[in-house]
Amino acid sequence: MAYLNDHYLKLKAGYLFPEIARRVRVFCEQNPAAAKRLIRCGIGDVTEPLPPASVAAMHQAVEEMAKRDTFRGYGPEQGYDFLRRAIAQNDYRARGMEVADDEIFVSDGSKCDTGNILDVLGSQNRIAISDPVYPVYVDANVMTGHTGEADESGAYAGLVYLPCTPENGFIPVPPKEVVDVIYLCSPNNPTGAAATRAQLEAWVNYAQANKSIVLFDAAYEAYITSQSIPHSIYEIPGARECAIEFRSCSKNGGFTGVRCAFSVVPRTLMAATRRGEPTPLHPLWLRRMSTKFNGVSYIVQRGAEALYSPAGKEQVRALIDHYLGNSKVLVSGAKAAGLTVYGGVHAPYIWVQAPSGLSSWQAFDKILHEANVVITPGSGFGSKGEGYFRISAFNSRANAEEVARRLQALKW
Ligand code: MLT
Repeated sequence: MAYLNDHYLKLKAGYLFPEIARRVRVFCEQNPAAAKRLIRCGIGDVTEPLPPASVAAMHQAVEEMAKRDTFRGYGPEQGYDFLRRAIAQNDYRARGMEVADDEIFVSDGSKCDTGNILDVLGSQNRIAISDPVYPVYVDANVMTGHTGEADESGAYAGLVYLPCTPENGFIPVPPKEVVDVIYLCSPNNPTGAAATRAQLEAWVNYAQANKSIVLFDAAYEAYITSQSIPHSIYEIPGARECAIEFRSCSKNGGFTGVRCAFSVVPRTLMAATRRGEPTPLHPLWLRRMSTKFNGVSYIVQRGAEALYSPAGKEQVRALIDHYLGNSKVLVSGAKAAGLTVYGGVHAPYIWVQAPSGLSSWQAFDKILHEANVVITPGSGFGSKGEGYFRISAFNSRANAEEVARRLQALKW
């Protein structure tokens, strides 16, 4: 008989968002009237149409694919040069960071990248992960066998959890012990907190001192509203020697359904072989991508490239401003409802303390049943998320305003 991967059996429940979708489906079947007024602020999925510059570029690319002379089959697994250049130039070099075109690896999502990167990292690494955090980091490590079993709070043996609390502004501080790989996400999903330069410097210093690697998820960097907060880990001197960055077109260009993202693996980034020899990770990641991935479609990459055109940049800015406007509406609505609210300033997420000692799932049920609004229970992001919930600002303005009203009408 064939054996399965036992590590999957350690996973606590279904993946968070399908589990929420399942519960909401049951609620809607049982409450058809409430289902009609349901507003979804659960998964952080964009609602507004694609930037017109991107749509035009994809139409044009479809036309090219329709003609023998311009048709293209398999593309380079690591991304077309035109997109790698646009990314490296606009996101990095134009902002004073040294990133070469061939250090950019185009992919179909940061979710995949933050999980897949484990392929090129050793199984003996001690892994540190913020709590609460985007659940993919933990689940991917469980699947790969980097953890023991979970305890009752859902915390897995073998992982080093970095608590994110109101006391530390939801930004983890480097631990006293040595860890080899650290996942950081700023602006943070789910808390909306954004790390300052000093906080990132502390992590880069720690990583340099311990020869660790920081896996920096910057999928929400476009939402940063303060000049002083870094958009990239590479704004910190020394990060090219100790950090991999993940970025996505999902939350800025509205590509959640189109699929395009990228990772940055500097050629200067080393990890140790079993015998302790420092060896660059870049060739390993290239090898991994070209073996297990066939690249993002040409059409989509042209659409992503157009996000960097002058018109595309303006249209992306308008999208971000729209969602940040929703964040403001939701923050003030939740505050007016008497709730304790965090985030929502540099991120499309509002992190709310569930009142009256409610657990995260109790708050989820109450808000679903009484306000007919879907939120995300904080405990789904880790044990330190218990007692909180997340409201996503990805919605129409009218829906954000309606959610703000309904929160205030709730009797807590
Ligand atoms: C979220 O809601 O946390 C995100 O949409 C998940 C994702 O980007 O995969």
